[in-house]
Amino acid sequence: MAKYLVTGAAGFIGRSIAAELIRRGESVRGVDNFITGKRENLIGLDKMEFIEGDLTDPAVCGHVVRGVEIIFHEAALASVPRSVADPLPTNAACVDASLYLLNAARKAGVRRVVYAGSSSAYGDTPTLPKHEQMLPNPISPYAAAKMAAELYMGAFARVYGIETVTLRYFNVFGPYQDPTSQYSGVMAVFCRKMLAGEQPTIYGDGEQSRDFTFIDNVVHANLLAAAAPAEKVSGRVMNAATGNRVTLNETFRELAQIIEYKGEPSYAPPRAGDIRDSLADISLARQLLGYQPIVSFPVGLRRTVEWYRNTSNT
Ligand code: UD1
Repeated sequence: MAKYLVTGAAGFIGRSIAAELIRRGESVRGVDNFITGKRENLIGLDKMEFIEGDLTDPAVCGHVVRGVEIIFHEAALASVPRSVADPLPTNAACVDASLYLLNAARKAGVRRVVYAGSSSAYGDTPTLPKHEQMLPNPISPYAAAKMAAELYMGAFARVYGIETVTLRYFNVFGPYQDPTSQYSGVMAVFCRKMLAGEQPTIYGDGEQSRDFTFIDNVVHANLLAAAAPAEKVSGRVMNAATGNRVTLNETFRELAQIIEYKGEPSYAPPRAGDIRDSLADISLARQLLGYQPIVSFPVGLRRTVEWYRNTSNT
């Protein structure tokens, strides 16, 4: 019987959490519908019990939560522009599925759900860094959907006593992030293109900034959130990030140096729903979880490039 369930286990972040749990000798079940997850991401996770299924089906939720103590809920359709193009699938995957999962979890006696929240909850407010006391201000359908499920997490902790913890991720990057979709995260796209000698495109002037967070830091935050005492963390929301930001122009230059890419980026109009600057205050996670980043941005960047270099994805 698995102790842990990872939803979105064939996706970038879910796969990475599952791998670390297995490395620690834990029993893990994974679920994915392969809409954005990849079968090849399951390679190396043979010890995980895997169930193919869609969490928008309440019966699937009831099935996958059985016997589980802790859930890492990573399944989502993670993209702002995808949600702008068509908000309904984003709502189904991020809101409906999360509610069905929570409902199944409380009925099955799951003790804790650690939820993949999003920094997009903060929207485009000029205040930096973003801290958890700020009022949410989602400006894209994606942000609204991730925020809605976050509210459900809090409400379920309140009324049903199931322990829930939301980690608001800030621009996670690293090995296993899909670089091939038009909705892929910028770091994955830039790595793929620049390694192939293609010109990357920067939307806007490139002076927008992000708190790019290497995947190992987010996995670390999740494991701390799973282990922290309920009285400290249940029903809470906290940032999972680095507390530093870089602009896209700087990111391009650093990548160009590592990859030895000689060209320049092309510039295109800004994307709808895009925010300008994003930077996290990570003091709450530090205080409640003892969290601090374990891999720096430059080291994470090198490991990421190395991974894309060595995979056929590129
Ligand atoms: C947003 C959310 C994040 C969420 C992620 C999922 C914020 C602050 N963050 O990230 O929580 O997990 O969506 O996708 O809202 N860009 C280019 N060229 C490209 C691709 C992207 O210039 O080829 C630009 C985008 O316009 C944007 C930046 O790079 O300004 C980052 O884009 P992306 O990686 O898609 O993530 P966010 O939209 O910041």
